[in-house]
Amino acid sequence: MKDLTPGRDTLDPIEIASRDEIEALQLSRLKWSLRHAYDNVPMYRARFDAAGVHPDDLHSLADLRKFPFTVKQDLRDQYPFGLFAVPRERIVRVHASSGTTGKPTVVGYTERDISNWADLVARSMRASGTRPGDVVHIAYGYGLFTGGLGAHYGAERLGCTTVPVSGGMTPRQVLLIQDFKPSTIMVTPSYMLNILDEFRRQGIDPRDCSLDVGIFGAEPWTNAMRREVEEAFDMHAVDIYGLSEVMGPGVANECVETKDGLHIWEDHFLPEIIDPETGEPVPEGEMGELVFTTLTKEGLPMIRYRTRDLTRLLPGTARSMRRMEKITGRSDDMIILRGVNVFPTQVEELLLATGGLAPHFQIELYRDGRMDAMRVHVECLPHTADESGRSTSARALGKRIKDTVGISVEIVVADPGGVARSEGKAVRVVDNRPKA
Ligand code: DLL
Repeated sequence: MKDLTPGRDTLDPIEIASRDEIEALQLSRLKWSLRHAYDNVPMYRARFDAAGVHPDDLHSLADLRKFPFTVKQDLRDQYPFGLFAVPRERIVRVHASSGTTGKPTVVGYTERDISNWADLVARSMRASGTRPGDVVHIAYGYGLFTGGLGAHYGAERLGCTTVPVSGGMTPRQVLLIQDFKPSTIMVTPSYMLNILDEFRRQGIDPRDCSLDVGIFGAEPWTNAMRREVEEAFDMHAVDIYGLSEVMGPGVANECVETKDGLHIWEDHFLPEIIDPETGEPVPEGEMGELVFTTLTKEGLPMIRYRTRDLTRLLPGTARSMRRMEKITGRSDDMIILRGVNVFPTQVEELLLATGGLAPHFQIELYRDGRMDAMRVHVECLPHTADESGRSTSARALGKRIKDTVGISVEIVVADPGGVARSEGKAVRVVDNRPKA
């Protein structure tokens, strides 16, 4: 793999500023953001008043914990535009989350918000090893989802030749990679696996393609998956994180030279980690729920937004800004099976450590008599497609899960191509238990 470490002189000075400088900037921006929310969004004013706090009460970053949280339901309750802090005419773009049930959550951006977002995605891409002038293939979905357009504006801002492919039509993805010779691909990790299969189906060695770096996010993925994709494509696989409510992709990103967790772009977002049960901040470095306060957003300021994503905060390394560990999962995705907590990422890691199986998987929950039970659907590789190869792999994976997670699960090994494929975010868990 190529050394893609960006030159220090290409970084934004704040990325490598001292902690004191970063925190001073955060404090002044935080004061502005609280004031902006309080003055312009009735919900924030009512919440702050009810909690007996006022933006003037914030004297240090630690004072933020006096302010109330914001949750996803608040966006639903204020659907569609109730949380906008500027007149609707100043909102130049909206995005929305699909939401599996009910109304989507809508987010809005001013012209300056869009510009800041482009800057931060450009910064994220540079951290990933992409350089001005590179060809960038974007296979995140375009539309209400923030992935495609978010990546797109960032790639253009960095000065790249941007190819807005969007998701789907997998054979054409391979054709365009072969012909346009991008150095960077931006796509969900699960869809990248789908593209990998298509390379092989067409008889093209993925290691021979032009890609040097993949910027993967929008869903949890493990370091085991990183090794799998890096090996298959002979490319760097770098993690990008974000969420629509806080901005979209580019809230945090790994650095290609270290790949040791994601640097949070702290000049625009202030992170906290809380205990999801009590809402109290956890001691530095401990695992908990990630909470963000936006520092510069005009259209939709978010004060102490509870992401439901589970991670821990770590000190800076390649940049002075703090890192978050690769996300284990969302608290909503945590499966509690017979009292044991399981995350799909744990299954991913164990699957990739087991020989003879493809990296695709889906977890099915069902009811077995009175007990909840779990089945993991995986598929064999073409050369292990015989019965004995399958049952050896199934036993090996079942044992790993039993030994590591502590639960007995059924492993179903399908033919190659038998597990549902993703063109965006993978559906990792299908719940077939009867509704209560
Ligand atoms: O997924 C934004 C995005 C697009 C990020 C493209 C990265 C690349 P939402 O659809 O609002 O926004 O979903 C946000 O996706 O709260 C996490 O649970 C999950 N997520 C996003 N990035 C990562 C990541 C976009 N790198 C939700 N690792 C978040 C793990 C991620 N989970």
